[in-house]
Amino acid sequence: MAEAVNVLVDKGDAIATLTINRPDKLNALNGPTRRELIAAFEDLKDDDEIRVAVLTGAGKAFIAGADITEFEGRSPVDQYRAMSSPTVFEAADAFPKPIIAAINGFCLGGGCEIAMACDIRIASDKAKLGQPEVNLGIIPGGGGTQRLPRLVGLGTALKLMYTGDMINADEALRIGLVDEVVPADELMARVRELAASIAQKSPVALQLIKEAARASVRAPLDEGLRHEKTLFGLAFSSEDKAEGVAAFLEKRTPEFKGR
Ligand code: COA
Repeated sequence: MAEAVNVLVDKGDAIATLTINRPDKLNALNGPTRRELIAAFEDLKDDDEIRVAVLTGAGKAFIAGADITEFEGRSPVDQYRAMSSPTVFEAADAFPKPIIAAINGFCLGGGCEIAMACDIRIASDKAKLGQPEVNLGIIPGGGGTQRLPRLVGLGTALKLMYTGDMINADEALRIGLVDEVVPADELMARVRELAASIAQKSPVALQLIKEAARASVRAPLDEGLRHEKTLFGLAFSSEDKAEGVAAFLEKRTPEFKGR
C-alpha cells in the first residue's frame, strides 16, 4: 500500500489518534483519504495495544465533507461504486472499540456523518456543523438521513438538512448533536483525558457495551433487551470480570487484559 499521508496515525498510552491531514482542502474526504481511513480502522481493530480511538482533523477543519471536486463529471454508477461497502461511515460505526470524534472545526456533510458514526462527539467552541448537501442538489449519503434524526429528533434534523445551514458548537450541544463543548485550545487535552479514562476499563466490557448500545438504535426494544442479556452473559464469563470483581474486593486497581 502507498504510504499513508492523508491520515496520520499516532499511537500512545492505549489511544490511537487518527488525524485527517488535508488541511488546505479542509480535510475533504477524497478517494485516497477514505481508503487510508478504512485501512487505519482495520489495523487498529486488531491491535491489542489500542483500546480507544480518536478521530480529528488537521488545521481549521474536522472534515468539510466529501471532496466536491470528485463529483464533477462522475456518473451515477461511478458514484455508486465509490460509495460501496465498506464505507468510512460503516468502518467507523462497526469499529469494535470506543471511538471519540474530536471536532476541531468545520464538520460538514460527510464530516458530520462520520462524527455521528463515532461513539462520542466532543467539539471545540470554534466548530461549525451542518449537512449542506442540499446546496449541491444532493442529499446526505453517509448515513446522515438516518443518524441525524435519531440523535436530534426528526424536526431538528429536517431543519438542518432542508436548509443546509451551519450551526455553532453551542447549538449542536443544545440539540444533542455533540456531547460536550470545550475551548478550542483545550479540545485535545479533554479528549485525551476522556479517552484515557475509558482506556482503563475492561476491553471486553467496552466492546460488549458498544454492541448492546448500537443495537438500541437499530432493534425493537424486546430484541435489544434479549441481545443485552446474551452479551451480559458473555461479559460475566470473561477473565476481565473475574479480575474486576477480585480487584474491588482486594481494594486494588484492576488490570484488564481484554479476555
Ligand atoms: N470538497 C473539496 N474542496 C473543499 C471542500 C470540499 N468539501 N471544502 C473546502 N474545500 C477547499 C476549497 O475549495 C478551498 O480550496 P482552494 O484553496 O484550492 O480554493 C479550500 O478547501 C479552503 O476552503 P475555503 O472555501 O477557501 O474556506 P472558507 O473558510 O472560505 O470556507 C467552508 C469554508 C467550509 C464554508 C467552505 O469551504 C465550504 O462551503 N465547503 C464545502 C462544504 C460542503 O458543502 N460539504 C459537503 C459536501 S457534500
